[in-house]
Amino acid sequence: MNVKNLPQLIVALDYPDRRAAESMAERLDPEACAVKVGFELFVAAGPGLVEALQGRGFRVFLDLKFHDIPNTVAGACRAAARLGVWIVNLHASGGLEMMEAARDAVREVRPETRLIAVTVLTSSDASTLRGIGIDRSPQEQVLRLADLAVTQAGLDGLVCSAREAPALRAQLGDRPWLVTPGIRPGGSGGDDQKRVMTPGAAFANGASHIVVGRPITQAADPAEAVAAILREIPG
Ligand code: C5P
Repeated sequence: MNVKNLPQLIVALDYPDRRAAESMAERLDPEACAVKVGFELFVAAGPGLVEALQGRGFRVFLDLKFHDIPNTVAGACRAAARLGVWIVNLHASGGLEMMEAARDAVREVRPETRLIAVTVLTSSDASTLRGIGIDRSPQEQVLRLADLAVTQAGLDGLVCSAREAPALRAQLGDRPWLVTPGIRPGGSGGDDQKRVMTPGAAFANGASHIVVGRPITQAADPAEAVAAILREIPG
């Protein structure tokens, strides 16, 4: 992948409070990795933490997976763009109109902010989808929502499993970002992640960015864990 996609490694700051998140950020190099702020940390620490991380030089992926009426999601994305985040995301299942409104809001405020979509959560299987009235397989639903998000709504990419990446690349081509969690460096254990992939395999499958949490945040030396993962990313 090209240099415009740097940094390709995003560290998930899955912490319950600001102090824990900032003490991890102090041990990381913003030239080597970006950081992801999700629900738990954002609800606890708010936009002030995002500003503090950006003040340290980090690019921030604000992982709040918006899903609401178009006007409300557009407002949330506008606020995220004003905050200056690098990436913000939403649920593609909110529909085309919602995604177009969000896209326009981001472009108007800060075109450099990337807006990406979640298709089907990897915690959902065929029976979860049947339960909400969708009779397609998860794979078919992923491809359908990917088309809606990227091809029709013109979003910048998707959050997806690295296992889905080959089919998504075949359908969408090289341009969209494919941001993939569920990554475990060679030789490490799986935690509660069941279907994991190494960084090298994820990029070989077509990922443009990887999200890694515990293998870095629980390492004795997080900066060395980052360096080891970067060595696994093909040049
Ligand atoms: O610690 P770990 O590397 O498993 O963290 C992965 C991060 O990616 C967490 O923030 C998790 O919520 C997120 N994520 C995931 N699987 C998905 C989507 C997001 O693990 N399918």
